[in-house]
Amino acid sequence: MAFKIGLLGLGTVGTGTARILQEPANRHPLLKEIEIYRVGVRSLTKPREVQLPPELMSTDLEGIVTDPAVDIVVEVIGGVEPARALMLKAIAHGKHIVTANKAVIARHGDEIFTAAEEAGVYVMLEAAVGGGIPVIAPLKQCLGVNVIDSIIGIVNGTTNYILTRMQTEGGEFTDILADAQQLGYAEADPTADIDGWDAADKIAILASLAFAGRIKLPDVHCEGIRQVSAVDIAYAQKLGFVIKLLAVAQQEKKAVVDTQDLEKGNFQSLQVRVHPTLVPQTHPLASVSGVYNAILVEGEPIGQVMFHGPGAGSGPTASAVVSDILNIAAVLKSAGEAKQLHPLLSCIHQHYCQIAPVSELVTRFYARFLTQDFPGVIGHLGTSFGKHKVSLESIVQTGYHENLAEIVVVTHDVREGNFRQALEEISALEAVDSIPSILRVL
Ligand code: HSE
Repeated sequence: MAFKIGLLGLGTVGTGTARILQEPANRHPLLKEIEIYRVGVRSLTKPREVQLPPELMSTDLEGIVTDPAVDIVVEVIGGVEPARALMLKAIAHGKHIVTANKAVIARHGDEIFTAAEEAGVYVMLEAAVGGGIPVIAPLKQCLGVNVIDSIIGIVNGTTNYILTRMQTEGGEFTDILADAQQLGYAEADPTADIDGWDAADKIAILASLAFAGRIKLPDVHCEGIRQVSAVDIAYAQKLGFVIKLLAVAQQEKKAVVDTQDLEKGNFQSLQVRVHPTLVPQTHPLASVSGVYNAILVEGEPIGQVMFHGPGAGSGPTASAVVSDILNIAAVLKSAGEAKQLHPLLSCIHQHYCQIAPVSELVTRFYARFLTQDFPGVIGHLGTSFGKHKVSLESIVQTGYHENLAEIVVVTHDVREGNFRQALEEISALEAVDSIPSILRVL
């Protein structure tokens, strides 16, 4: 029995996928039973890096997802539409889906998984987060018996590349972004990466798996790296930190939920957020550099486990895509005529997780102030922080910036709402010119 693949898209990931499927030697023997049956592309004349029989190629993507002979539709065209509509149509026609499309899953996962469950088909998405890094299957299977406390990830290679270069070269964000674009490390329109949206899609998917409930994407607090400056990177370094764009899904431990809430996935204290963060230089995520991704999962009883590797690219992402195809083929082969979906591969969520507003987050902060250099300014800052229950871990005034004193503060753990109130009061002080940077600290 051969499993017939309808491959939608022959770009970077589609090419890598076709390459693995064309060269099954020395890989898992089941790959020999997987056949590229049809390939959907936008242009039949575009030169391709992979040779496929011309009769397999078509621009009729709808024809592929409705073809009765296709068993598994592999969607690697990216973007929200027409990918979403094609996936839904494929599901309605009884096809299993393998996708690398985090944007569709993060926004429309509910309708896609509901439709898949009704149709009795699998939707697999290992390639949607962390490229080649296995993290979806581990969360669903190997770590499935754990109570997850947190997932902290560097899940966007573009921003990690830019921040790493800012760190090592001391350059400013806009210059390094322009250079990264020229070198092909950043897209011509880098918005989704540098404003954190790509990471928000990915952490919404990971949080959904780890905390067993659907996540509404607008509930994910999202800040990108545009405001990170060379000055802050240098201060962070002096204080023993590096700045990383972290995607975090975390349950605040102090608001322990009862068993009934756990069953309903009703975590009032669940935080899902993306923002630049000061990471201690000794933390395992601090040394993840360049385009690499890493995902640190903490749970009970496993403790900490970190997945690290290539977060994008043709080969790595195709490795994840084909592993999903292989999983579906293996399960279909062993299930025979039985129609029951394998519970470790299908989606079991029905409800939405409650996401706590970021004002309830308890974290450390780093803030940089530009002030007049008068006696008593630091005292005023201290008074305002104290009034709002913000305890300071360190306060330094080392430099001047255009005749203004530069004061850098790191707090102990504080409630974000309290910290923001203190900042509002401080920014109204006559001696305070501006607060150019506010960053969270891991
Ligand atoms: N644009 C992503 C990144 C890769 O920069 O990591 C695809 O998810």
